[in-house]
Amino acid sequence: MNERYDGIAMLLHWSIAVLIAVTFLLGLTVDDFPKAYEDAVVNTHVLVGLAILVLTLVRIGWRIVHRPPPLPQTITPLSRVASKVGHGLMYLLMLVVPVIGIPTLLYRGRGIDFGLFAMPPLVQRTPEIFRPLTELHEIASYALVLLALGHIAAAFYHQAIAHDGLIQRMMPKGSRKTA
Ligand code: HEM
Repeated sequence: MNERYDGIAMLLHWSIAVLIAVTFLLGLTVDDFPKAYEDAVVNTHVLVGLAILVLTLVRIGWRIVHRPPPLPQTITPLSRVASKVGHGLMYLLMLVVPVIGIPTLLYRGRGIDFGLFAMPPLVQRTPEIFRPLTELHEIASYALVLLALGHIAAAFYHQAIAHDGLIQRMMPKGSRKTA
């Protein structure tokens, strides 16, 4: 029987996963919305992206204080290294993508509407700066999503082929036992 992550780690894992999917899709489709909705879509993208940044910092802090449960003995040394590298890169990109997003937004001459208060535009719109930044932001976000897809594929492999029940580690108690 695999040991599980604690409840806070699970909550952070699943909420960040959903928020990344939402903000990635909003980022990709922002130009497909009618012009009248553009500001609201970009602002939602930004607020969700900033929430990811904050939650990722909380998650890293939580992980330092609450070490993840050990992997089962059956996991090969190669899989252990792959999982360490993959997870490390995902944490890095969960910080890098939103951090690059901040100057991308500012050099577009945009502010942020936080609902209760708003941050006005701080910088003059400068296409020669925001264009390469947007490209970098996009490439880094593709890398993040590709890694996340690899992570999901690995979870499916462990579930359907290796049958080692690894996915249970990130599932709340009481969820169906499958291995
Ligand atoms: C993990 C979090 C994030 C992901 C996965 C993400 C992903 C993306 C993607 C895929 C695009 C489309 C790029 C293109 O097609 O050119 C985009 C655009 C953009 N992102 Fe993000 N982003 C994130 C966080 C942020 C944050 C925190 C900010 C700002 C504080 C931000 C600001 C922007 C801006 C200004 C654009 C350009 C929107 C436009 O076309 O007007 N992003 N993002």
